[in-house]
Amino acid sequence: MVKILKTEELAPDIKLMELEAPLITQKVKPGQFVVLRIYEEGERIPLTIADTDKEKGILKIVFQEVGKSTKLLGTLKAGDEIVDLIGPLGRATKIEKFGTVVCIGGGVGTPEIYPVAKALRQADNKVISIIGARSKNLLIMEKEMRDASDELYITTDDGTYGHKGFVTDELKRIIDRGTKIDHVLAVGPVVMMKAVSKLTQPYNIPTLVSLNPIMLDATGMCGVCRVEVGGETKFACVDGPEFDGHKVDFDLLIARQRIYLKEEKESMELFMKTHKECGHV
Ligand code: FES
Repeated sequence: MVKILKTEELAPDIKLMELEAPLITQKVKPGQFVVLRIYEEGERIPLTIADTDKEKGILKIVFQEVGKSTKLLGTLKAGDEIVDLIGPLGRATKIEKFGTVVCIGGGVGTPEIYPVAKALRQADNKVISIIGARSKNLLIMEKEMRDASDELYITTDDGTYGHKGFVTDELKRIIDRGTKIDHVLAVGPVVMMKAVSKLTQPYNIPTLVSLNPIMLDATGMCGVCRVEVGGETKFACVDGPEFDGHKVDFDLLIARQRIYLKEEKESMELFMKTHKECGHV
């Protein structure tokens, strides 16, 4: 069993959770993820790691309540326990001195890009970060990203905070002002990562994206997380989650992410109905 030490609502339906996980925190590196199960028969939920406190053995995860399992996770409080937590999983982000690096976080992609930005800055890179959200109230981890970056730019789709528009508009502005960018890392919705990769390709700026396909075992055995990169099939859980954005077949990924939409919707509706009746949500 794994103990929940703290929970905090960062934005509507977006929560931070601190877990007691001393063994995982000793090993985890930026870009890796964990899989948790709330209860024995529960769904395995892959979640990115937002931060760690190695001394205290605390692992911080941030999640958006988008489906039944994450909604249920969101009902748990400090002192509650989940049945298990596996990790760290996936390949860590390559951290080296590239020069000028642009780190882009969209929505709940920001918690994943945060430890990466921090590590890249510690490796002597100039870190320019762009974070975006649909609206001001959904923007998260601004302070953390400001502390981890040499420059931080903010965008909101509706213009309620920062620049009105998308993270790609800001990236284009940075490119147009003549900044030599050596590396781009983008984490967020697939459409955002696709747009970032499309923008950087003509400039030949190496661009890494962190893919979030549906996962099951997260150990490379089931093949559920397969993605196509450069015409080859890769398993995001063991070969990724980061891949060359210029080679990813984003349209295939979007189609595969939608496979269970109907079932997910039905499961969520049933969950909301039963839990509203008992007052949990
Ligand atoms: S989740 Fe099963 S192979 Fe990746």
